[in-house]
Amino acid sequence: MIYKFIDEEGKFSVENPYRFSYLYFPLTNKEGSIFSSISPNLAGDIKKDNDRFLTIPVSIEDIKNNPLAKREFFIKIKENGKIFRLSLPWQKDRLEIGLLYHKLIKENEFFYTEVVNFVPFDLDVEVMWIKLINKKNVRYKPTFFLPLYGRGGKNLRDHRHVTSLLNRIKLQKFGIILKPTLVFDERKHRENDTLYFVWGTRNGKPPAGQFPTLLEFLGETLLWEYPEAIYKDKKPYQRKKKEFDGKEVCAALQFSSTKIKEAHYIFIMGITLSKKYIREVFLKLNNFKKVERYLNKTEEFWKKNLRLRFKFHNFNFDNWLLWVGTQPTLRKLFGCSFLPHFDYGKGGRGWRDLWQDLLTLILNDEEVETLILNNLKGIRIDGTNATIITSQGEFIADRNRISRVWTDHGIWPLLTLELYLRKTNNLDILFRKIPYFRDYQIMRAKEFDFQFNQKDNFLRTKDNKIYKGTVLEHLLLQNLIAFFNVGKHNFLRLENGDWNDGLDMAPQKGESIPFYCMYAYNFLILEELLKKIREERRIKRVEIFEELLLLLDSIYSSVDYSNYQEKLNRLNDYLEKTKFFIKGKKVKIEIEKIISDLRKKTDWMSEYVKKRAWLKKEKFFLGYYDNKGKPAEGIKKKRIGLLLQSQVFPLLSGVANKIQAKFVWYAVNKYLKDKELKGYRLNTDFGGNYLDLGRAFSFSFGDKENGAFFNHMVVMFAHSLYRQGFLKEGFKVLESVYKMATSPHAKIYPMIPEYFNREGKGLYFYLTGSASWFIYTLFKEVLGIKFSFGDLIIQPKLIRRNFFKDIIEVKFRFSHLPFHIIFIRPKREKGKIYRIEKGILNKRTPLKKEKDKIILPKKEIEKLPLKECLVEIYLR
Ligand code: G1P
Repeated sequence: MIYKFIDEEGKFSVENPYRFSYLYFPLTNKEGSIFSSISPNLAGDIKKDNDRFLTIPVSIEDIKNNPLAKREFFIKIKENGKIFRLSLPWQKDRLEIGLLYHKLIKENEFFYTEVVNFVPFDLDVEVMWIKLINKKNVRYKPTFFLPLYGRGGKNLRDHRHVTSLLNRIKLQKFGIILKPTLVFDERKHRENDTLYFVWGTRNGKPPAGQFPTLLEFLGETLLWEYPEAIYKDKKPYQRKKKEFDGKEVCAALQFSSTKIKEAHYIFIMGITLSKKYIREVFLKLNNFKKVERYLNKTEEFWKKNLRLRFKFHNFNFDNWLLWVGTQPTLRKLFGCSFLPHFDYGKGGRGWRDLWQDLLTLILNDEEVETLILNNLKGIRIDGTNATIITSQGEFIADRNRISRVWTDHGIWPLLTLELYLRKTNNLDILFRKIPYFRDYQIMRAKEFDFQFNQKDNFLRTKDNKIYKGTVLEHLLLQNLIAFFNVGKHNFLRLENGDWNDGLDMAPQKGESIPFYCMYAYNFLILEELLKKIREERRIKRVEIFEELLLLLDSIYSSVDYSNYQEKLNRLNDYLEKTKFFIKGKKVKIEIEKIISDLRKKTDWMSEYVKKRAWLKKEKFFLGYYDNKGKPAEGIKKKRIGLLLQSQVFPLLSGVANKIQAKFVWYAVNKYLKDKELKGYRLNTDFGGNYLDLGRAFSFSFGDKENGAFFNHMVVMFAHSLYRQGFLKEGFKVLESVYKMATSPHAKIYPMIPEYFNREGKGLYFYLTGSASWFIYTLFKEVLGIKFSFGDLIIQPKLIRRNFFKDIIEVKFRFSHLPFHIIFIRPKREKGKIYRIEKGILNKRTPLKKEKDKIILPKKEIEKLPLKECLVEIYLR
């Protein structure tokens, strides 16, 4: 571990953080309307979205190498000419990080300083607050320096110089405003209305002047190390000169020299449309007392955001979990973009990711109904979906304007919705009517509708009315289509990839078995939901659009499931009939019949996978067929091909039987476990390019989707083992993630990164689905807290290794009540799997125990007083 926790609320410190190559920390506000990244050398960037960067966009290497990507502060001592920079190491350097702020504490013989950077939780700016103690009473001249970029990410390699010619600045008493004349876009230039600004103050007073362009600040030189403004003591400007226009701009605010003992420098950096906002925000933050108050409020906000709290009574683990619990919120806000490793996205949330992050957000009791409803409007009538949803809830078919389909997308909404329904019992949501997404892409991206010229993205009926169907119908459609969408081995077509984005080169003949398993599992969830609405709502029939009947084949006309061509024909029939519009006619179908149709399908799928995808010799599951239609895994010329996700999903879906699950555990340990680092790899070494399956295999082995310790799948592996009842094994896998994340090899802050490479180093920080699954697994599987449409079920799967002390606590909200559950174990026996002895509510009432679980029925929960509800579970 490179850090040390210093309180119980996740605060940690790192001594001499410059020892590590690639550290960065995210800053944002509650809306995600400004994003920053910051490294211990104050590098990183500040932006609003992909088109509006205040500072130059940074990739991971830039945080070390790009002098233009740093927040800098020069301190020049008058007496001896010595110059200190805040971005470089001093004699003593310590970093302190909390929810969500970044504080550097630096000291040398002359100065002691604290540099705090944060984004106030409800403002659109980054604040940098420098407290400077002049230890030896020297006279010094301070200059803040931040190169400004003021344009879109793409201009980095597209008219970088030309776009600088658009720059126009205003020098103001407290700072600088950059307002380029145009948004440069050769398809359609637009007048620019965005203001990029930096204002600063020392103890409430304005700077003495500024050097507003890089040329003025650095001077006529090819070197950046010795800016003339500082080294040659140039005189700063108070007024703008004509030649400042059209140059690369910087905020270089210089203050008069001073001998003051304690000074507070505050810099406000932001992007806005309104001049008024700049003044307003500045007035909120223009002295250190105000900044300090805002900092506290911001910390409070992020702490309160963590309503789900675990206490395993291990200082490091509990603190670490707070950061893991914050990760899904960060990804909700950042998407998979805007941090130095994430230099590819353009913001917005990816379909698969946003659903999975919701798992933790639901447990965290966030209000998600609107989000869920809005997301579901992204589903097309062909079962595919718009892949990106912007933070404003708009849909983008594909972030790179490529027509492609990920075959797994259909499974995620239902998994999330199931948790939501179980927690809230809001069955009404299933009957809410919402439209379908319609754009030029039709027939699962195999055809284009060149005539498509609708202004909106709503599917219409034959008579041109916007069609709306229930949420239930959307879910049925997404999953039913997958059943028929098969290749010649009668498994799900891989299309342009599945969970593994790297399997993107087998669109014609590729097949994905792991996700066929998951659709089988989804049919079971649908079946359960249908039963629930039948009982609770006493409804016998539900309404669907007529064409959907084609896919409920046992009601319409049966298809021979063992004949892949028959399935495909049925799918094509459906796709043709719904290609441009649907009839708009609704039919009422008996729930009973739908249930039996789904059951038929799921039974067939499970049996089929169990038999046909089980590699008898190797004793693990085959997961894929490649673009030549050949099995991708198994023993091949003495090399073992094995992918972790091919094993995880048969287990997680319950398709695998117990014996198969046991063999899988054995195979994964044999082929994917790293003996030294003790983690689980995503796959064995396939030996280089595999152009018939995907780009993944071209990555260096041990990185990303090619054999890295890819945490998302590792955590899901743990989850699947728990589902199968392998508790010790499941925990071992979960623990491997924690151990790797906190090992000295990882060289990261507390969190789960996307993956660890072959040296065990963590990469791609914060924005990963593994965090959500880690929390979800801990809550639902390890502690066994389950919601059941208003009832609370406690069915722990605790073993000796889960305990650090004799109790484990968890706090969360359920049914408008704060719950506090404490698991108490009797004695420390080796290898123990604990069972429930008894449960007591609010220190008085014994709870009803049914076999290995405690059930708190909805009716009783409703009667509880509106205060913390304490449940003690005694184990034996
Ligand atoms: C990332 C992506 C996720 C994808 C996975 C594997 O995982 O965000 O959509 O399924 O790679 O390709 P994450 O960083 O969430 O762990």
